[in-house]
Amino acid sequence: MSTQKQPTRNDKVTTQTVVEMKRQGEKISMLTAYDFTMAGIIDQAGVDVILVGDSASNVMAGHETTVPMTLEHMIYHTSCVVRAVNRALVIADLPFMSYQVTAKEALISAGRMMKEAGAHAVKLEGGKPIVNTIRKIVDAGIPVMGHLGLTPQSIYKFGTYKVRAKEEQEAETLLRDAKLLEEAGVFSIVLEKIPAALAAKVTESVSVPTIGIGAGSQCDGQVLVLHDMLGLNKDFSPRFLRRYADLNKSMTDAVNNYIKDVKSGDFPNKDEEY
Ligand code: KIV
Repeated sequence: MSTQKQPTRNDKVTTQTVVEMKRQGEKISMLTAYDFTMAGIIDQAGVDVILVGDSASNVMAGHETTVPMTLEHMIYHTSCVVRAVNRALVIADLPFMSYQVTAKEALISAGRMMKEAGAHAVKLEGGKPIVNTIRKIVDAGIPVMGHLGLTPQSIYKFGTYKVRAKEEQEAETLLRDAKLLEEAGVFSIVLEKIPAALAAKVTESVSVPTIGIGAGSQCDGQVLVLHDMLGLNKDFSPRFLRRYADLNKSMTDAVNNYIKDVKSGDFPNKDEEY
């Protein structure tokens, strides 16, 4: 029997909490956030983990890929999120080229993310080529989340955002990489856009939790980009995306009503003036 205290909704979520959640069979909920207001809402709602993803490049900055994101951009977004959060574990993406050149540079980037932004952990994309780098960051006391499958920072290598690891060889490499990441000390691994059966195999092969996006139901947790699941973006509809609101419509209706009221002189009324 485990002597570990069961996490409650009020306890701060730590990297140990999410590992324990896997052991206890409790699914982990993770969403992205990039700013103070949204982060505060989803933390209050009780999400376990908030990822300050470099998807900020797409949904906040309007770029087509995550490649243009800089460490300064990510430190800014992460510090906004950290100021709003009381309970969730806040993980920040290290952006493209802030960790790939040397392990030393990676450690400096991870350290800045912790010291200047207040992140609780960092996420890096990739397998075998960055295992030594991950070991160095973990050895310095910084928790690391891995990311395998569709790794968007490598979009120019892949040439497409289609499902990864459908072929046997890529699937075997991915399984090997997951085990290497676990040995290097990651506390969790994101599996993006891979077949559900492969994600299930990885999940049962490693002791650390897997967090899926487009990777089926057998992962230990799930992550979605907040703007996508809130229906803010009408034009992005991959099969894995479930929309929990239609905020694009709600916002459009609200703004249309405001414009109408301003034009007609209905806003502001007597009660709304000094
Ligand atoms: O940047 C991001 O939002 C991510 C998630 C999709 C996992 O890495």
